[in-house]
Order: sequence, then structure tokens, then C-alpha cells
Amino acid sequence: MHTVKAIYPGTFDPLTNGHLDLIARGAKIVDELVVAILRNSEKGTPLFTVPERLEMISEAVSGFKNVSVTTFDGLLVDFARKQGAKAVLRGIRAISDYEYEFQMAMMNRKLDPELETLFMMPAEKYTYVSSRLIKGVFQLGGDVSALVPPLVVERLKAKVPARGSGE
Ligand code: PNS
Repeated sequence: MHTVKAIYPGTFDPLTNGHLDLIARGAKIVDELVVAILRNSEKGTPLFTVPERLEMISEAVSGFKNVSVTTFDGLLVDFARKQGAKAVLRGIRAISDYEYEFQMAMMNRKLDPELETLFMMPAEKYTYVSSRLIKGVFQLGGDVSALVPPLVVERLKAKVPARGSGE
């Protein structure tokens, strides 16, 4: 049987409803979707540890039969090959994402011509949502409950107790 396995890689610090929306869309078109958290991110100090992110995402995707969650290090193409994945799934929200995504997709193609990158667009209502904005807004006391899963709101409250509680 011909099955398609795809990797959905990212930092996910933290998971947003935009990520979840993309996971739901991806899970409908591929047979197996592996959400892969990058362990050695160059994005500076993350708010959540990798085990915390793994736990949150695992809980959030528990309803999907064909979605699993893991972590990876090093080159995405090497990880994808080891996993036997034919494709990488990435979300594009706006034109501003395009250049970064184009460069990554082309670099990955150079490194492994057999690996395809699939781009999907999240629901319109999440086009402005990013993990960076979620963290920033929450840390300043803003309400992000419509933009991340409830379990992420709880984890944010536990991490940043003085904020996000209306105080
Ligand atoms: O959610 P992010 O931070 O935009 O995801 C970026 C990610 C994890 C997809 C990207 O940094 C990545 O694949 N890193 C692994 C290292 C790698 O393969 N680099 C070469 C591709 S340009």
C-alpha cells in the first residue's frame, strides 16, 4: 500500500490554535503526521522546556488517530529520512512568512531532492497568531484564551503566575 508520512516541524513555544488548525488540515491529507519539536532551536531561551512542549502537544493532538509527537535535533532532512517521511508540512500565514519558508524549502530540497515541502494555510482567524506574540501578550497580562488550546493557557498561567489572571 502507498502511504504518505509527513513531518510537521517547529519550535512550538508554545503550541497555538494556528498550529492545531494546521495539524487538523494536514492529518486529513496525509496518512501519518509526525509533529516534531526542534530540540536545539536557535531562537534564544524558550519559555517552555522541550519535555513541557512535548507533553502539551501530545495532549492537544490525542484526538487524532494518525498524529504523533516527537522531538528532533540536527538537520530536518536527516530526521525525515530516518522517519521514512516523504514530505514536510509547513504553514504559511501571510506573504511575510513566504521568504523564510521559501528559503527553508529550497535548502531542504538541495539537501534532499526526494523530500517535498507541503504548504497549507491556517484558518483566516489565526493568520496573525504566532507563538512569539502569544508569549508577549500573555506576559503583559493580555487574554490569549481564544488563540491557544485551554491546556496551554493553564501552562502559561503556571509559568507566568502574576500575569494573565486579570491582575
Ligand atoms: O517553528 P519554526 O521555529 O519556524 O521552525 C523552524 C524549523 C524547526 C522548521 C527549522 O528551524 C528547522 O528545520 N531546523 C532544523 C535544522 C535544519 O534542518 N536546517 C536546515 C533547513 S533551512
